[in-house]
Amino acid sequence: MHLKIGVILGDGIGPEIVKQAIKVLDKIAEAYDHTLTYQELLLGGSSIDVHGIPLTEETINQGKTCNAILMGSIGGDPQKSPWYQLPPERRPEAGLLGMRKAYNLFANLRPATLYHDLQHACPLKKEIIQDGFDMMIVRELTGGLYFGKRKTFLNDGVLTAVDELVYTADEIRRIAVSAFEIAVKRRGKVTSVDKANVLDSSRLWRKIVEEVHVDFPQVDLEHMLVDNCAMQLVRAPRQFDVILTENMFGDILSDEASMITGSIGMLPSASLNDSKFGLYEPSGGSAPDIAGKGIANPIATILSAAMMLQYSFDLDKEAKAIEEAVEAVIKEGYRTKDIMTEDQVLLNTAQIGDKICERIK
Ligand code: IPM
Ligand code: MG
Repeated sequence: MHLKIGVILGDGIGPEIVKQAIKVLDKIAEAYDHTLTYQELLLGGSSIDVHGIPLTEETINQGKTCNAILMGSIGGDPQKSPWYQLPPERRPEAGLLGMRKAYNLFANLRPATLYHDLQHACPLKKEIIQDGFDMMIVRELTGGLYFGKRKTFLNDGVLTAVDELVYTADEIRRIAVSAFEIAVKRRGKVTSVDKANVLDSSRLWRKIVEEVHVDFPQVDLEHMLVDNCAMQLVRAPRQFDVILTENMFGDILSDEASMITGSIGMLPSASLNDSKFGLYEPSGGSAPDIAGKGIANPIATILSAAMMLQYSFDLDKEAKAIEEAVEAVIKEGYRTKDIMTEDQVLLNTAQIGDKICERIK
């Protein structure tokens, strides 16, 4: 295949981890006879530095000429970076939200897997984790509170702020379909998370999810309130296969789920639209405190590249080759600092990338 990949190096550790993912992609291209070309795209802080805004029309249009986009993390330290002196709509995060909207990336997939060889990193008790957990959070990404109208105003002399939470039946239906389709390929269970005991948007959510379920009789569906889900994630994470939820709940629960794996530097993510176009990025942040030191874990970004091969290009074999190479390297005891324990071999960012390339067959 001939594929053009948009590359957002991003801020903080972004450039160093993306570089490793590209190295791995080039290795795959060579081994499986594909031609990959890359186009650099500016987003977030690095776009602010050049253009004064975190996302330009030019970047959006350049991205449209690509088959998919691979990205490092964006953003800086809100306490220190001058980007956070800017009004909210010109800060790095606004660029990311703008890109999600511009490409209609409504389906955000965030796996949270506990690797067998990294169980020691899990902050939960052994009797809770048993032989591990493996869940996929499917988060709606272009609706809800994030994209409702918002304003801050004086109401009878009292400073007041409003954020609107809107969901349409169509928005709920398409993300529910994505979640059920994914569940069919996994262990066949969807836990739909809402706050239907309080919110109208959640009651509509539940109704539409049940309608979609009719077309997927092979999948078990359960509903769970979001506060309970937050609790269940640390009480009994093994019960989850696919978690389907709206934008804001998904933001919060996906951080919780990644934390209980204890190794956020290992977790990829995908944000997809309805034509398989996607933005792929590590689940962790831009970690400005360790940027440039060569110690960041590139595996989340490398696995994001694997997700890109699988979800945008249907190159399942190639994606699997990357995943197996990562597992092999972990099994052999090679570690970056974040997941290092005694008796293992400490490597830097580039060395881990090299090891993974060596294991690709
Ligand atoms: C995420 C991030 C973003 C979000 C921020 C940076 C706007 O936390 O991708 O989870 O809230 O969606
Ligand atoms: Mg988040």
